[in-house]
Amino acid sequence: MNARSVLALLLVSLIALGGCGGETMMSEKGFRLPDGDAEAGREAFLYMQCNQCHTIKGEQLPGIPGLASPYVELGGSVTQVRTYGQLITSIINPSHKLATGYAKEVVSEDGESGMYIYNEYMTIQELVDLVMYLQPYYKVVAPDFQYRMYPG
Ligand code: HEC
Repeated sequence: MNARSVLALLLVSLIALGGCGGETMMSEKGFRLPDGDAEAGREAFLYMQCNQCHTIKGEQLPGIPGLASPYVELGGSVTQVRTYGQLITSIINPSHKLATGYAKEVVSEDGESGMYIYNEYMTIQELVDLVMYLQPYYKVVAPDFQYRMYPG
């Protein structure tokens, strides 16, 4: 290996390390909240009036009369895994990634989610209970387009 390729290699590893370092600082690796209680989560869903704007696929929830709402269905078939982390993120940081399948102007304004920010009112216990309650409603299915799938 000549000096030039050693230098190039060094540069590449420096860039790689630099990139990694940045990600590591904000990494969600190792993040895990304790398990919640799904029944308590259902109660929290109702008393926090999440049903003002949400229905849940396969659940009969009382509607809230007289309130206009962007009805966003939770649960149902999704093509990507609705992970624990994604669900938590969509509750405590709703604008991070908006729900798909809705017109942007219906669910957001200037890129901001139309969902209330509950962070100052919701306890961590309520959060873990809500996620425990919601997650089983998501069913992962294979995407419709299969042209990239290999036989077997
Ligand atoms: C004022 C209406 C409103 C209320 C009340 C509300 N949300 Fe939302 N929520 C929305 C809208 C609009 C979206 C779609 C935009 C987005 O992804 O943030 C959404 C998205 C979500 C998503 C992500 C859905 C997806 O498919 O990506 C979850 C999960 C969720 N809300 C949970 C809750 C929970 C739990 C509560 C109660 C603590 C709640 N929401 C209360 C309006 C609301």
